[in-house]
Amino acid sequence: MVKIHDKTFDIFLTAQEIQNKVKLIAAEINSKYVGTDLIFIAVLNGSFMFASDLMKGISIPCAISFVKVSSYKGSNSTGRVDELIGLNTDIEGKHVIILEDIVDTGITMNKIYSYLTAFSPASLKIGSLLFKPDAFSGKHAPDFVGFSIPNDFVVGYGLDYNEHGRNLEAIYKLIEE
Ligand code: IMP
Repeated sequence: MVKIHDKTFDIFLTAQEIQNKVKLIAAEINSKYVGTDLIFIAVLNGSFMFASDLMKGISIPCAISFVKVSSYKGSNSTGRVDELIGLNTDIEGKHVIILEDIVDTGITMNKIYSYLTAFSPASLKIGSLLFKPDAFSGKHAPDFVGFSIPNDFVVGYGLDYNEHGRNLEAIYKLIEE
């Protein structure tokens, strides 16, 4: 059990279980993308540990770029505007795999996916360590999934609760009190 801020979390996926799964995803990518011009686009902050461990298992030539979804209030609109910042590499004609820590409702991924599509990659796939199918209502489900999980709030291995807990090497789920 771990305590983060005011909440208590119970072990959900051990560090070993995560590492084993990440190796399997890497092996699948190695076999599917051999001979292609492959680039990973990792979405910060949450995906940093997944991206790092996954990259260690990739044995084919590849590049990686880190992006961040930035939300700001548009001057003429009432809603918020999202943009993807940090994409400093040309992905046109390349095979792109977006890396995320978790796909929950899929709303974030809808935005990232349509933003990247505009740059005409040769292919665009999604790798997410965690996926919450029961919460998902998006257009793009992940193609490479570590674990499909119930609708619980989880932390660790890059995922945060109010910015804390990202450093944990296992994944913990919230204990509802
Ligand atoms: P979505 O747009 O609903 O798919 O949510 C995506 C983002 O919400 C993720 O990138 C996470 O930052 C955050 N998120 C969703 N579920 C969790 C969770 O269980 N723990 C921590 N963060 C989460």
